[in-house]
Amino acid sequence: EQKRYFSFELLNWYTRNKRDLPWRRHRNPFYIWISEIMLQQTRVDTVIPYFNRFIARFPTIEALAEAPEEDVLKLWEGLGYYSRARNLQAAAKQVVELHGGQVPDDTQAVAALKGVGPYTTGAIMSIAFNRPEPAVDGNVMRVLSRYFLIEEDIMKGSTRSHMESLVRELIPEGRASDFNQALMELGALVCTPKSPQCLTCPVMEHCSGRLAGREETLPVKTKA
Ligand code: ADE
Repeated sequence: EQKRYFSFELLNWYTRNKRDLPWRRHRNPFYIWISEIMLQQTRVDTVIPYFNRFIARFPTIEALAEAPEEDVLKLWEGLGYYSRARNLQAAAKQVVELHGGQVPDDTQAVAALKGVGPYTTGAIMSIAFNRPEPAVDGNVMRVLSRYFLIEEDIMKGSTRSHMESLVRELIPEGRASDFNQALMELGALVCTPKSPQCLTCPVMEHCSGRLAGREETLPVKTKA
């Protein structure tokens, strides 16, 4: 069946092909959180040195919460979208005050943090805590729209909801962390926006988009 095949083959591929990224070397929820905020508008290669400097200077949530804002912004210099840095520090203060300085293992509490939207909530809960929550960003929508030949406009909220339900169905028992990262990794390395590398794709055989010759014309996206 198309769904079980997808989950099984994708996880297997990820185990063999995942990149060694600095935030994958720790299971520290704070580090996962920082990486997801940095990766929102910035490429992986650019983020790596910023991430390493950031956790060296702010190894704990307390350290970030107590730092002068200018120190935080200084470490963000060049990444852009500085509100991300300000929100991250404000949220670190929230975590110190409300949760004793530990990222809470609680979806609602994480979603309530400043600067943390639905995608980042799902990413933190799944990657850091292995909770079966979807983390649907543009990469994930591209992969799913192709594999399942979903022609809904990805700019619509209803499409995101549909994809989130689909991811909940697809996450194998106890494997949310690896599965969500595998979806992101496939989108980054194989199922790319232009010229997807279908011949190296672990799920090409049952990819409805590919079988319909639609891999380059999905996802459907109206101009913002
Ligand atoms: N893009 C967004 N989150 C990511 C992650 N955890 N690993 C790689 N790329 C990502």
